[in-house]
Amino acid sequence: MILVLDFGSQYTQLIARKLRELSVYSEVVAYDISAQAILEKHAKGLILSGGPASIYEEDAPLLANGVLDLELPILGICYGMQLLVEASGGEVLACESKEYGRSSLQLEGESVLFHKLDDASTVWMSHGDSVTHLSSDFKCIAKSDTCPVVAIEHTKKPVFALQFHPEVAHTKQGTTILKNFLFDVCSCEANWGSDAFIEEAVSDIKKTVGEDDVICGLSGGVDSSVAAVLMQKAIGDQLTCIYIDTGFMRKGETESIKALFSEKYNINVCYVDASDVFFDVLKGIVDPEEKRKKIGETFVRVFEREAKKLSADGSKNFNYLAQGTLYPDIIESASVGVSKKAATIKTHHNVGGLPEEMDFKIIEPLKMLFKDEVRRVGDALGMPEETVYRHPFPGPGLAIRILGEVTRERVSLLQEADAIFIQEIKKAGLYRDIWQALAVLLPVKSVGVKGDKRSYEQTIALRAVESTDAMTATWYPMPYDVLDQMSSRILNEVSGVNRCVYDISSKPPSTIEWE
Ligand code: XMP
Repeated sequence: MILVLDFGSQYTQLIARKLRELSVYSEVVAYDISAQAILEKHAKGLILSGGPASIYEEDAPLLANGVLDLELPILGICYGMQLLVEASGGEVLACESKEYGRSSLQLEGESVLFHKLDDASTVWMSHGDSVTHLSSDFKCIAKSDTCPVVAIEHTKKPVFALQFHPEVAHTKQGTTILKNFLFDVCSCEANWGSDAFIEEAVSDIKKTVGEDDVICGLSGGVDSSVAAVLMQKAIGDQLTCIYIDTGFMRKGETESIKALFSEKYNINVCYVDASDVFFDVLKGIVDPEEKRKKIGETFVRVFEREAKKLSADGSKNFNYLAQGTLYPDIIESASVGVSKKAATIKTHHNVGGLPEEMDFKIIEPLKMLFKDEVRRVGDALGMPEETVYRHPFPGPGLAIRILGEVTRERVSLLQEADAIFIQEIKKAGLYRDIWQALAVLLPVKSVGVKGDKRSYEQTIALRAVESTDAMTATWYPMPYDVLDQMSSRILNEVSGVNRCVYDISSKPPSTIEWE
């Protein structure tokens, strides 16, 4: 395995994910992990990520003592490179002009890191500092038009560093560079995949949980479904799932979840209709963050209450709450991940909305994975296609797709529109091409004409996006005939709606959900 030491770059997890795609297990750890902890993890190499700091700042993040003496292969990226240069007595200074975007790599001499690489390859830069002087320990192995030192290699040890980002798609031959580091420098074997992940996760879950009992929040989405099946594989009857019907689910969702988990998987599921509580809590609330926080808190409260009920006879001791949190949920919900530096975009219901005094310890077996990795795990667990390839659905459900106040009437209107939208996508054979499709109820009314009468009714926005990890997304170019069919069915079949629009915003600057 390779450890990625996180100095706060937005690309850190992408590095780990790229390595896993190359079938080498990789884990992100905090930059100040001790030398001893690295040894205990049996890492075959280290990657030092980029980060927003400057190495010459007073409190610049540094490696723990002894890490450089471990004699492990190291690849420093961007800030990681500056750190290695500074530690060996070289010099890093602020560039006169910061460099972001494409640059052309020009190789200098031979290096195992650049084996099978074309000269003059395109690379992706994002830095404000650069190396101005190298100590005699390092030699320069590549430059660019604007930067005299773009890649370096230690003269005696398997230590390399790059000013650019090999992990991003814009660096054309980044994968080749990473492969060279993994297989030629670190002598890794390509033996990691979903089966290995399952084996390791099962053993980790057993170790963590011991004799305790676990409650799993089951929503029916890919993440919580895979988490539940994985948990059950690990701890069998120690697992009890609670499915809370918040009232904000899609049309028919509760029934299909019952059919799947109770009937097909035979998992112990307790179904709770808490919709009255949720509608009550959201009465009069229109602010998106307030909605999210309230839903998150209520969710946990209902959970605690149900878990207490389930353990009232003394046969169960629920110390853990299992959740299907994924890596993108963590990175967008502020600094709760490995990285100590990340900005809050939204408070995700399964991460940031949890109150401090909660009674459970949290277990999140999928938290280092991206969605496509979770799907591969689901496939490897033999789960059905309709669950594994289901579009993501947020914890707060339709409540964050109803702009303005959430009422039973507005939810059922949106459920109808959403069901038609998804049916038409499936009918057109586009469901698997689309990352996520959702209908949104807008807080505006507009004038229309129905029959010979004036109408003054609501608007539904339809949104479908393409993405690989929900971190970025582009709007889906829905064929006109499919749009036409969707729109006319919604306008004819959903009472109270007289206008339908299609959302053509990408993320960033928009997000996938509207709230
Ligand atoms: P945004 O809207 O932030 O969404 O671009 C990114 C992905 O995350 C999903 N999402 C959530 N999932 N709890 C979840 O489990 C949440 O609170 C939540 N909010 C957003 C969203 O549907 C998209 O797939």
